[in-house]
Amino acid sequence: MDYFNYREQRLFAEDVAVEDIITEYGSPCYIYSKATLERHWHAFDSAFGKQAHLICYAVKANSNIAILNTLALLGSGFDIVSLGELERVLAAQSDPKKVVFSGVGKREDEIRAALKVGIRCFNIEVQGELDRINQIAGELGVIAPVSFRVNPDVDAKTHPYISTGLKENKFGIDIEGALDEYRRAAAMPHIEIVGIDCHIGSQLIETRPFLDALERVLKIVNALKAEGIVLHHLDLGGGLGICYNDETPPEPAEYVAALLKGLGDNNLEILLEPGRAISGNAGILVTKVEYLKPTEYKNFAIVDAAMNDLVRPSLYGSWQAIIPVQLGSKEPENEWDVVGPVCETGDFLGKDRRLALSQGDLLAIRSSGAYGFTMSSNYNSRPRIAEIMVDGDRMHLIRERESVAQLWAGEHLL
Ligand code: LLP
Repeated sequence: MDYFNYREQRLFAEDVAVEDIITEYGSPCYIYSKATLERHWHAFDSAFGKQAHLICYAVKANSNIAILNTLALLGSGFDIVSLGELERVLAAQSDPKKVVFSGVGKREDEIRAALKVGIRCFNIEVQGELDRINQIAGELGVIAPVSFRVNPDVDAKTHPYISTGLKENKFGIDIEGALDEYRRAAAMPHIEIVGIDCHIGSQLIETRPFLDALERVLKIVNALKAEGIVLHHLDLGGGLGICYNDETPPEPAEYVAALLKGLGDNNLEILLEPGRAISGNAGILVTKVEYLKPTEYKNFAIVDAAMNDLVRPSLYGSWQAIIPVQLGSKEPENEWDVVGPVCETGDFLGKDRRLALSQGDLLAIRSSGAYGFTMSSNYNSRPRIAEIMVDGDRMHLIRERESVAQLWAGEHLL
């Protein structure tokens, strides 16, 4: 459930008319609803009841510092994958003790920075990373808390680009080799083993693959226990899907209940790294129709947002709902391809959509709060667009629209 609804035919973000936001800040822009974001975070957090847990929001989904700060104030932890994300989380005034660091290619400077601020845990994904962390921790005179991200070889049944838990994927330590890595870590002077981790993919719409992964990870937990290596937490990653069209993913409560059942009487703190399920439906992308171009073969609605602003439809062929900001158009409905101005045939936001359109109309692309702005680029020298967060009847500019001059800031003539 989200807080983007029609009131008397006008689309509202909480208590603010979307049209008023565009009048103030221009088109195109991302609009987020604070209440929706908070609601989704609480849906995960409260599902755990008395079970020890930490929700570590996956920063890559939407990393605006106002979003991170909103979640930090609820008590959220964060899953990061780069120095940039670490610095963002710190700029958002969150507690480094609640930060887990994932990613297959952690550089020395990134590890050093994370050790200096005292993050909660490194999720190790490559053998060499363990040696590197041990060495840097030794140089700094600290003990590094680590967990291994194991690859459980489970089919997440999602788009191949966002499936990560199969043997052929680059992520995690092979599940067969995990015990050896834990033994190696246990013998290292600057390492403290704190947990185990897996993340099998994104936009999963059923619970089964999560439970299969959990079962396999628990086997390792128990094998380690038998050797005297006792883990404190189990991190099951992110990946719970959302409804873009007609998908029916489990609610966070249902998903967490299934996980807790699968966990049985194992006494472990549970960490989750949801991204999309928290921020996805808390955001829309609003764009204006610049031109209508009906042709013999196709009708094109050319809008002022493009694949550089929202790449998911072009990159994954993903479907996101496109709805009018103002209902009650007098134009007849027609099938439109909603396309941007970028010079690529793959630049589309939606195809064959039934809409009643006039030039100048505003459209909202729903479910754009995750992997929207964070995957945007300056392709075709298009400045990145503004981000606004609505809180009740107030709107806040949380990222200014880039200026044209910012496009080449840092570039130099010979
Ligand atoms: N943890 C790790 C280690 C991850 O790699 C990811 C996502 C997450 C957590 C959060 O997953 P979520 O709960 O958001 O599904 N750009 C793609 C999604 C890529 C996901 C990458 N990893 C998209 O737009 O669909």
